[in-house]
Amino acid sequence: MRTEVIILDPLTPDSQAIARAAAVLRSGGLVAFPTETVYGLGANALDAKAVARVFAAKGRPAENPLIVHVADVAGARQFVAAWPPAADQLAARFWPGPLSLVLPKRATVPDIVTAGGPTVAVRLPASAVARALVQAAGVPIAAPSANPSGRISPTRAQHVLEALGGKIELVLDGGPTAGGLESTVLDLTVDPPRVLRPGLIAPSQISAALAEAIELSQATARPEPSRHPAIEEPPALAPLRSPGMVARHYAPSVPLECVSDNGTSRRRVEELLHAGQRVGWLTFCEPEHQDQPRLRAIVMSRKPEEYGSALYEALHALERCGVERIIVDMPPESEAWLAVHDRLRRASAE
Ligand code: TXA
Ligand code: MG
Repeated sequence: MRTEVIILDPLTPDSQAIARAAAVLRSGGLVAFPTETVYGLGANALDAKAVARVFAAKGRPAENPLIVHVADVAGARQFVAAWPPAADQLAARFWPGPLSLVLPKRATVPDIVTAGGPTVAVRLPASAVARALVQAAGVPIAAPSANPSGRISPTRAQHVLEALGGKIELVLDGGPTAGGLESTVLDLTVDPPRVLRPGLIAPSQISAALAEAIELSQATARPEPSRHPAIEEPPALAPLRSPGMVARHYAPSVPLECVSDNGTSRRRVEELLHAGQRVGWLTFCEPEHQDQPRLRAIVMSRKPEEYGSALYEALHALERCGVERIIVDMPPESEAWLAVHDRLRRASAE
């Protein structure tokens, strides 16, 4: 299959391009499109066959449910069996935006979307392209990140094409995504509500909007850092209660090590270079080894939003230039860095 690419203005997308993409979705095709977080791989959520193609294209385990993207709150309410006051409060505060709400599903949602589970994640995306697309499609869009399962999410159309070109009908190229990290996934079927995946919206913003405490999932709150090389994503239990159950995720194809202080990371980088390895380094300080041909260092922002927005792009760039190992200076421990920490830990997990 030839994957068509349509370049469009991310702020005022051309309506003909959107209409074309909507038609592809309605006829069972797959369309990758930019959201405010990362690129999604969309299929008509009501078409089980189309959704099955999403799992196949990504190599995604059938146990891992998809997020359903909707055009408005009324659209979300059509697919959930209950819409509690907390959902109203959060939608009023954060939608459109990078918050996915897990709620009891209605029977109309095909089982394949929810991995056979009783809940569905719904989200009203903020990017103009995503919004225009769900509106024009007239159907909800099931869309995971448009990357092979377990790998780094795409923040550019080029990342999607490199990984999924030939497997999907269309890519809408709206340039790089602004957020760079995925949405926060919040489970509203438990009391108190629980963050299953930290994302662009911080837990404290959610508790402030709800005026109640919320929980972080175990995997989010107490992850185990690791320095071992990459292995494949383990088979999961069906259906996954939380994305955190898959420890290794969002990972580059080469081993990634997180190091907690710059002095130690510099020594580690030197050791690897000395051993003849090609090394990628995400650091906060301009390194002294610029003349070292086997080192590719990327200086990252000390601001969490800027760091998060640049992280996947940096990892994709390091992967592309053929480094054998990636060393990452860990950012500080604070809530503002929660999502970045979560992704780095998963990228470095066994
Ligand atoms: O920012 C985002 O959320 C992007 C864009 C494209 O919207 N999408 C995305 O989808 O990151 P995906 O499939 O890569 O990640 C969705 C996460 C998965 O870890 C999945 O386990 C979790 O949300 N999830 C989806 N439905 C769920 C459910 N019913 N219960 C618990 N977790 C769920
Ligand atoms: Mg993903």
